[in-house]
Amino acid sequence: MFSYLFVILISYLLGSIPFGLLLTRLVKGVDIREYGSGNIGATNAYRVMGFGMGVMVALFDISKGYISVQIAKQVFGADVAVILIIAGLAAVAGHNWPIFLKFNGGRGVATSVGILINLLPKTVLIVFFIWLIIVLTTRYVSLGSIVGAALIPILAILFNNPPIYVGLGLAIAVFVIFRHRPNIKRLLAGEENKIGWNMNVDK
Ligand code: G3P
Repeated sequence: MFSYLFVILISYLLGSIPFGLLLTRLVKGVDIREYGSGNIGATNAYRVMGFGMGVMVALFDISKGYISVQIAKQVFGADVAVILIIAGLAAVAGHNWPIFLKFNGGRGVATSVGILINLLPKTVLIVFFIWLIIVLTTRYVSLGSIVGAALIPILAILFNNPPIYVGLGLAIAVFVIFRHRPNIKRLLAGEENKIGWNMNVDK
């Protein structure tokens, strides 16, 4: 029992590391929360500081989900799906409600991608292409994230994944959509931030 709780705690703490905030502060001394959407994720890092920073934050945030599942795999073996899933979701909870930022975190998209790369790679590949098409055509990253998240449990069913993985997809979809409430309000009001090149604080 103790080892389960320990792995879950480690995953939560790993997820709580706000790489978007740390990297943008380190490189430019900027508090990303004061610009763009105010979010600490890769999209806002890209919006505020450009493509390279966006990719870097995305990779670090993805690694939080991937590594959390991997730690659980090493400790408990790859067959105990439920603890792998709980560990991954603990990392997403850490990203969304980080202990280091008074529980004010991000949307959990990249960290969820990290879990999925580890556990449902085919699903995440398809969702990535759909996300990319939506983002390139609308320039709303949030819309791509919301639609992509909603598709995960559906694809898990279509690919005949065991019910526990459908549950993982559902949990990710609920987390992601719940954390996009401000974006959904802005989308409905026609006021959502679009991504583009001219919002960089360098310019
Ligand atoms: O992954 C987060 C993205 O969907 C929305 O980011 O900064 O526009 O709120 P942002």
